[in-house]
Amino acid sequence: MADDSARGIRIEGLSKRYGSGDTAVDALRKVDMTVAPGEVVGLIGPSGSGKSTLLKCLGAVIDPSAGRMTLGGERIYDDGWHIPDLRALRRDKIGFVFQAPYLIPFLDVTDNVALPRMLAGHGNTQARQQAVELLTALDVAHRAGAMPSQLSGGEQQRVAIARGLVNRPPVILADEPTAPLDSVRAMAVIRILNDMARQFQTAVIVVTHDEKIIPTFKRIYHIRDGVTYEEAGEGRSFG
Ligand SMILES: Nc1ncnc2c1ncn2[C@@H]1O[C@H](COP(=O)(O)OP(=O)(O)OP(=O)(O)O)[C@@H](O)[C@H]1O
Ligand SMILES: [Mg+2]
Repeated sequence: MADDSARGIRIEGLSKRYGSGDTAVDALRKVDMTVAPGEVVGLIGPSGSGKSTLLKCLGAVIDPSAGRMTLGGERIYDDGWHIPDLRALRRDKIGFVFQAPYLIPFLDVTDNVALPRMLAGHGNTQARQQAVELLTALDVAHRAGAMPSQLSGGEQQRVAIARGLVNRPPVILADEPTAPLDSVRAMAVIRILNDMARQFQTAVIVVTHDEKIIPTFKRIYHIRDGVTYEEAGEGRSFG
């Protein structure tokens, strides 16, 4: 496990079967994928191809049926075995950015972003400071004191992105993170993900259909009927 690629995301032969018998669905079929620390890769595929299933396995939300996975150098799944504390893994190692923002309605924007930091044991003042820094980078700091219901869809999405990043997790899983954003803000989100990845050696996977951001990926995985294949992207650079 000493080589560099082992410290990002590595999956080998990952399979997921929902149900059993005649109605079984093989949503993932022996998927191999690596994302190096500091790398942002795209994941593209039609509806029902297995994108969400793959992200849920990577995020330790559901167990794969077979295969191996390491995250940040740590063995997570190995053919039926998994690490005992998946909850701690999700809390400490994985940042999720979901399609629907799922903000907590009774906390203001700052506390929505600061909460994962507080839960990780950091002081409230410091956690809020870091939240505001990220909100500033995402151009939504002027709404720091607002409640989620008072935000536009795009603002909610940017707050959700800040929340996913606040713990500087070694792995970020983003499902259509730019869908509700205009092109300027979509590119700002991609820039932040790339900066984060480089600065904190984060491995980032972005599920997307968004034509605006697809040219920014240096590598793209396509998925179809639960099978992935890799394509070199155009790799527009940031910086
Ligand atoms: N809980 C489940 N039980 C049974 N089958 C499921 C379950 N979840 C997903 N599937 C099936 O597994 C396959 C992959 O679904 P998945 O949700 O991963 O697709 P997706 O690529 O995310 O699609 P979309 O772009 O529509 O979100 C589909 O055939 C789907 O019907
Ligand atoms: Mg999906």
